[in-house]
Amino acid sequence: MNDCPNPDSPAAAAGQGPARRGFRLPAQLVRLVLLTVGIVVSYLAARYVLTPVSFGQYGWYRGNALAEIAAREPVYAGKAACDECHSEVLEKIAKGEHQTVSCESCHGVSRAHAEDPDVKPVKLTGSHCIRCHEANPSRPAWFHQIKVREHYGERCTDCHKPHQPNEVP
Ligand code: HEC
Ligand code: HEC
Ligand code: HEC
Ligand code: HEC
Repeated sequence: MNDCPNPDSPAAAAGQGPARRGFRLPAQLVRLVLLTVGIVVSYLAARYVLTPVSFGQYGWYRGNALAEIAAREPVYAGKAACDECHSEVLEKIAKGEHQTVSCESCHGVSRAHAEDPDVKPVKLTGSHCIRCHEANPSRPAWFHQIKVREHYGERCTDCHKPHQPNEVP
């Protein structure tokens, strides 16, 4: 009976145990490695699926975006488009301080009106002069600015001619 070795004896554990187990990663490390590989693989898969085809074509942005923007219908007509029917306004404005200001800076987007005069231009609101002329420290000092509250009145065009602003009111 005694020649049957007891597997639980200290001798058996010391003699065979370590050799039989070999090297094994602890289970918590295996999980960690699997988790990391899982995250990296799903990141790469998501990046592959979600990155637009033209990304990186020219640089760090979607190359097709350029073509899409270029294909948009312009909404501004530009000063030259007004010349056909309002040449007298262009002549007036060219002589005064507002010569560098585009018609549509005040009158708003007017392409639709320039192509079809039956389409009324955007209605002017009282605030369109203030947008440029309200005193603001970020504007250059030479630029004519007013403090609207301390200036003469709210309806700028009661005194100023918008197309000839340098005519003394
Ligand atoms: C094809 C001719 C034509 C072109 C181009 C044109 N307009 Fe006009 N515009 C008209 C006509 C016609 C009227 C109406 C005139 C009237 O009723 O006295 C008008 C009126 C206006 C008015 C006055 C609206 C009002 O309520 O009194 C403004 C402002 C105006 N146009 C701005 C512009 C601007 C800015 C452009 C350029 C982007 C432009 N127009 C291009 C024909 C044109
Ligand atoms: C600084 C702002 C401003 C600019 C720039 C401007 N306008 Fe005007 N425009 C006005 C205002 C304000 C009125 C209305 C005038 C009024 O109520 O007495 C007006 C009126 C008009 C009118 C109708 C009355 C008139 O005087 O014939 C036309 C047409 C017009 N503008 C066309 C143009 C065109 C074309 C350009 C570009 C060459 C232009 N405007 C640039 C502010 C501007
Ligand atoms: C898009 C910007 C812009 C808008 C809107 C604008 N202006 Fe001007 N204004 C200018 C520029 C640019 C000048 C020329 C630089 C200067 O004289 O300060 C000027 C000059 C002036 C001057 C000085 C003229 C002088 O010789 O003393 C007056 C007055 C004036 N604008 C009145 C107006 C009135 C009134 C309106 C509204 C109908 C208006 N501006 C709307 C840009 C603008
Ligand atoms: C009751 C008439 C009156 C009204 C309304 C009026 N102004 Fe004036 N504005 C003047 C007179 C007069 C001057 C020139 C003397 C001065 O600067 O005090 C002037 C000067 C200016 C100047 C030139 C300032 C400078 O430093 O040379 C600007 C810009 C101006 N006005 C813009 C406006 C704007 C924008 C409005 C509307 C919010 C407006 N004005 C309303 C009478 C008026």
